[in-house]
Amino acid sequence: MANYLGIDIGTSAIKAVITDDAQNVVAERDAALGISRPHPLWSEQNPADWWQGVENVLDGFYASHPELLAQVQAIGLSGQMHGAVLLDAANQPLRPAMLWNDSRAGSQARALALQHPDLSFKVGVMPMPGFTAPKIPWLAVHEPKILERLKTVLLPKDFIRLQLTGTCVTDMSDAAGTWWLDQAKRDWCDEALAAVGLSREQMPKLVEGNAVSGHLRPDLARRWGMPPGVAVAGGAGDAAAGAVGIGAINHGDAFVSLGTSGQLYVATRDYRPAPETMVHAFCHALPQRWSQMGAMLSAASCLAWAAKLMGEDVNALATAAESAFTGPSNLLFLPYLTGERTPHNDPDAKGVLFGLTPDSGKLEVTQAVMEGVAFSFADAAACLTRSGTQIEKVGAIGGGARSKLWLQMLANVLDVPVVRYEASARGPAFGAARLARLCVTGEAPEAVCTPPPVEFEITPVKRLAEAYKPRVERYRRLYQAVKGE
Ligand code: XUL
Repeated sequence: MANYLGIDIGTSAIKAVITDDAQNVVAERDAALGISRPHPLWSEQNPADWWQGVENVLDGFYASHPELLAQVQAIGLSGQMHGAVLLDAANQPLRPAMLWNDSRAGSQARALALQHPDLSFKVGVMPMPGFTAPKIPWLAVHEPKILERLKTVLLPKDFIRLQLTGTCVTDMSDAAGTWWLDQAKRDWCDEALAAVGLSREQMPKLVEGNAVSGHLRPDLARRWGMPPGVAVAGGAGDAAAGAVGIGAINHGDAFVSLGTSGQLYVATRDYRPAPETMVHAFCHALPQRWSQMGAMLSAASCLAWAAKLMGEDVNALATAAESAFTGPSNLLFLPYLTGERTPHNDPDAKGVLFGLTPDSGKLEVTQAVMEGVAFSFADAAACLTRSGTQIEKVGAIGGGARSKLWLQMLANVLDVPVVRYEASARGPAFGAARLARLCVTGEAPEAVCTPPPVEFEITPVKRLAEAYKPRVERYRRLYQAVKGE
């Protein structure tokens, strides 16, 4: 009898699952996290709060299910990508982590693009302010004292690994989002590091997601009643961990993630850079596999924002909008609440609600918000097409996948079937548990990373797919009309 623990360092919560030999989720726990936005465009969290959340979750498992923890053979980590955790020589954070949706480094990202136009083909994507790399030249200008003391840069989940094992290690799929990884070689890119004045000495060691990165510290194993020598797998960035969880590991397997952020993710058999399209071409979490991804900064978070504004519960609002749906909305919503990566690479893009009349009520606004997010996935699909990749079917994960209406909109707007799998909301933590298992059993990834049972499949409705086409065009024109210089 063996159990595996998957821990996702999300943006809104730490989420953890324990799985058994048969890949059943036998326990799950969450700990909520807050975000600090001390200035416009900034988005920060304290690494100590992530660790506190992980401790709370593990203490909770120990109180409720000590017998499950006693059987844990390996731990897998997943996490929000691109953030910069800046450590001093004693491995202590020098300042709050700057997150994936922090856009303060816009001018530094633009400068990197101008000075190093060819590097994007190596590191998989245009430099964008949310990535780790541009945050370093921002520090050089605004917080030079911190930069002087910088010893190591870690990604969010790897700070938790450091607490669990004492080692500074990352995996390929998370390293992929720094703008410092040579994606084809699966190694740090010295030229990209030098572009921001860093070197590989400041980077964590690289392992594959299904390899052992270290072992749980004996004092923590005793505290949580786990056996000695529990392995900690490389794990994955949350996009690739979500892919592993849903079984999207073979060429052409695609899915949409409707989380705080949105992703249209396709697994690829080789490295396919297309930086001019704003598609992210990254290493997958498993050896010899890569991915292409359209990455949107706001997805389900738009509905959460709208619900809060209107004083309503998100799920109740989505259900009511589903009952009221008769066809495409007359309103348009641009979902750029925190700027946008694919397709615009525009940190200054803003949310827009357009076309309001005295008759516009809560449900019209709700539908328009959901449609706007769906349209942003249509833009991502168009970018993938330009990069040479056509999607034929998508799985759906993330909190937003709970809404059938949203999945119907996506099927109609993308004009492909959308499949919801059982327990699709579990996402990255479940993928992390699978990587934990692989690192100790050495099983073939195909044997473990299979798609979960299908809950239902939604096929496009021709009439609606046609009706949405001109709306998507109007949505595109609206952004062009209102964007800044
Ligand atoms: C992917 C991305 C998000 C974050 C937060 O490029 O930015 O997946 O990892 O979820």
